[in-house]
Amino acid sequence: MMQNEVRRKSWNMRHLSDRPDRFGPVSRAFHWGMAALFSLQFMSAAAHWALPRDHALRGTLWSYHTDLGLTLFVLVLLRGTWGLWNLRQRPRHAGLVGRAATAGHAVLYLLMVIVPALKILAAAGGTRGLGYLGLTLIPGRETAIDWTKAAAEWHATLGWFLAALLLGHIVMAIGWHRVIKRDDVLSRMV
Ligand code: HEM
Ligand code: HEM
Repeated sequence: MMQNEVRRKSWNMRHLSDRPDRFGPVSRAFHWGMAALFSLQFMSAAAHWALPRDHALRGTLWSYHTDLGLTLFVLVLLRGTWGLWNLRQRPRHAGLVGRAATAGHAVLYLLMVIVPALKILAAAGGTRGLGYLGLTLIPGRETAIDWTKAAAEWHATLGWFLAALLLGHIVMAIGWHRVIKRDDVLSRMV
């Protein structure tokens, strides 16, 4: 009875986990769910950057930037933990180009953590504090800590750098792997 239970649990784990020939359902859900949420996040950043202050669409798209950004921060930490847990059995890339792809993915992870973390740091040192879904996480300070303002500027700069890298990532996945090389790299994530 006990042994059956243990076997069933390990069968479930095996089906959720990554394998050398494909990413498992948990990794795929993280990847495509977060891809959709990042698209919304960059739409709000683009509206903030491009539209005039009193534009209604800017107000709508900007209204969720902090809540979604904090949600993405938590999701990337969970996704990174799951990725590390599966590190030895994940699909690998062979050769020099493969190692470049792995390094590229590591930079994506790093930026997905650093970009929101910088803004959280800036908010912690600022007069407005930080809220999430209406709850106060960090109350505003009476006087701002000067050096944390630089973190806010880096948030925007590195945020756009992340957007550019993601465009390159999509071009490589669809243009290079699917259209030119016609290998299984896209299908093991789909
Ligand atoms: C991974 C998540 C995030 C991404 C990709 C991202 C991206 C960006 C980008 C590209 C900009 C520049 C917009 C412009 O040029 O006008 C920006 C600005 C901004 N972001 Fe984020 N963001 C994220 C998370 C957050 C979080 C968690 C917060 C709040 C704690 C936040 C608050 C802001 C604010 C207030 C600005 C306006 C400019 C400033 O004061 O720095 N963002 N974001
Ligand atoms: C149309 C959009 C996208 C396509 C077609 C795509 C495609 C892929 C493919 C095929 C892989 C597997 C590569 C391999 O076998 O190692 C992958 C991995 C990865 N992608 Fe994307 N991707 C997209 C959007 C995104 C976005 C928006 C992000 C980040 C927010 C992202 C982050 C990553 C990361 C970090 C990996 C490494 C594997 C992991 O740990 O999940 N991708 N992508």
